[in-house]
Amino acid sequence: MLKHLIRMVFLLTLFYLTNCQSDQVGQSDKDATINGALIFNRNCKICHGIDGRLGLNGAKDLTASVLREQERIDIITGGKKIMPPFKTVLSEKEIQAVAAFTLSLKQSTSK
Ligand code: HEC
Repeated sequence: MLKHLIRMVFLLTLFYLTNCQSDQVGQSDKDATINGALIFNRNCKICHGIDGRLGLNGAKDLTASVLREQERIDIITGGKKIMPPFKTVLSEKEIQAVAAFTLSLKQSTSK
């Protein structure tokens, strides 16, 4: 009886864990901007500021940047001057998402 109960609890936990994980992956795949914003808050805000304009440590104002998405991806991946490379920190998809997010910063302020 106890064995059954333990197995039930174990299976339920497993079910919840796998369910949560697949939810997260699904979400980040569907909406790259939301994911990008999260990544930006965690990794970029310190220098670029929450709206991309802070410019700490010589960081560029991202709302004024004229770089295209691929050029941003290259800088985020390989770093530039004080900005560290993120290729060991973020996956390719995450770099793509955060690059897209920096582009959205520009659009939202040029209105
Ligand atoms: C330690 C501070 C620092 C952090 C953290 C940082 N950056 Fe930067 N970033 C800089 C600096 C400094 C530059 C300017 C490099 C140069 O002189 O061209 C820059 C430049 C950029 C540029 C190019 C802008 C342009 O027009 O030339 C982009 C895009 C960018 N950062 C995005 C990001 C993203 C996205 C993250 C987070 C994943 C990030 N940065 C994290 C300091 C930082």
